[in-house]
Amino acid sequence: MATKLMDKAKKEKADEFYTQLSDIENEMRYYKEQFKGKIIFCNCDDPYESNFFKYFALNFNHLGLKKLIATCYDSSPVAFTQLSLFNCGKSIPNKNRRAYKIEITEVSDFNADGAVDLSDVRYLLQNKDNTLTLLNGDGDFRSHECVELLKQSDIVVTNPPFSLFREYVVQIIENGKDFILIGNTNALTYKEIFKLFKENKIRTGNTNFNVGMYFFVPDDYLKFHKIVDGKKMVRVSTSCWFTSLPVKKHNEYLTCYKRYSPEEYPQYENYDAINIDKYTEIPYDYDGCMGVPITFLDKYNPEQFEIVALGIVGSIDFSSEKRMEILKDGKGTGTFTINAKGTLYKKYNPQVDKKPPAFKDAETGELYSSIYARIIIRRRNPNEN
Ligand SMILES: C[S@@+](CC[C@H](N)C(=O)[O-])C[C@H]1O[C@@H](n2cnc3c(N)ncnc32)[C@H](O)[C@@H]1O
Repeated sequence: MATKLMDKAKKEKADEFYTQLSDIENEMRYYKEQFKGKIIFCNCDDPYESNFFKYFALNFNHLGLKKLIATCYDSSPVAFTQLSLFNCGKSIPNKNRRAYKIEITEVSDFNADGAVDLSDVRYLLQNKDNTLTLLNGDGDFRSHECVELLKQSDIVVTNPPFSLFREYVVQIIENGKDFILIGNTNALTYKEIFKLFKENKIRTGNTNFNVGMYFFVPDDYLKFHKIVDGKKMVRVSTSCWFTSLPVKKHNEYLTCYKRYSPEEYPQYENYDAINIDKYTEIPYDYDGCMGVPITFLDKYNPEQFEIVALGIVGSIDFSSEKRMEILKDGKGTGTFTINAKGTLYKKYNPQVDKKPPAFKDAETGELYSSIYARIIIRRRNPNEN
């Protein structure tokens, strides 16, 4: 029994995390102008459970949308159990459900009270101009019929399955569409996603990058952080928004107040760049390559800085091939590596380094600290500080 539960826990992936309306509202309020006259596509969203659909249906007129399309995936485990919004009287697939799409082109303020409420949405689904149609396939965002809907739309807005994030984003970009998506900050370091950052085709959204989000999870999930109104919720500290649309903070210039000194900004041993531990400490007078933490991307203004590479093997060419012993808690392990397992490293400095050294030069005995997760950047206009 215990093994069965553990197996189940392992299978629980972030693919079935459902977004809160408040998180959607907080981000969407920045894009009002961009939504006007547009076709919004929520393609991982069962209208009966997705707050993305709910948000756009309820704000259809306020945002001046042309159309709202939502498609659901037929293996979603929470369908019809969680955020049941409407009871529209149409023939809706039940337990043996099939994937379907909803297309909304008209929302009248039925109550004539100036606001669109849930009863209007119920009415909306009975309106002959708003259709609910079964799909032929399973509603996979990669299926032919869903790609055809993508081609008709302007902006894709959703929280897609995390395990498919790379191909999900690549498909939208290949089809030349805009997007606002929830993803994981780890995705910043995926080769495909990082390339898009370099090309300025993706950026982080408006919501604070470091706060994380709570998501609803299916009732049978074993791991959760709290229960709200009888629904289990999980906090993901690394979730954030990604978009192709303009975001004000990425046009703002970072004020650099620190002066460069070789003592404070040591060079890497295997790449020609200085190490910077906090993006706020980027020196105003250094024009060469700099390694900054990944969180820099949340402040990245492509007019001020150029992204050169990700500081890991495969993204940059390391300038040395030292044979080193791997240390654990500063002590030798008898195991050796070339080039610090493919990461950046710098000379160990006992005065400032909080962690013990991670590597020892097999020939000279020199100690090194490894530097994980750095982005190599350079100032675009060297004279502009
Ligand atoms: C992270 S959940 C988010 C659901 C909803 N967008 C939200 O934010 O509340 C991802 C959703 O994508 C669905 N899904 C999984 N694989 C899919 C696929 N290949 N195509 C379309 N949807 C998929 C899952 O069933 C799940 O409902």
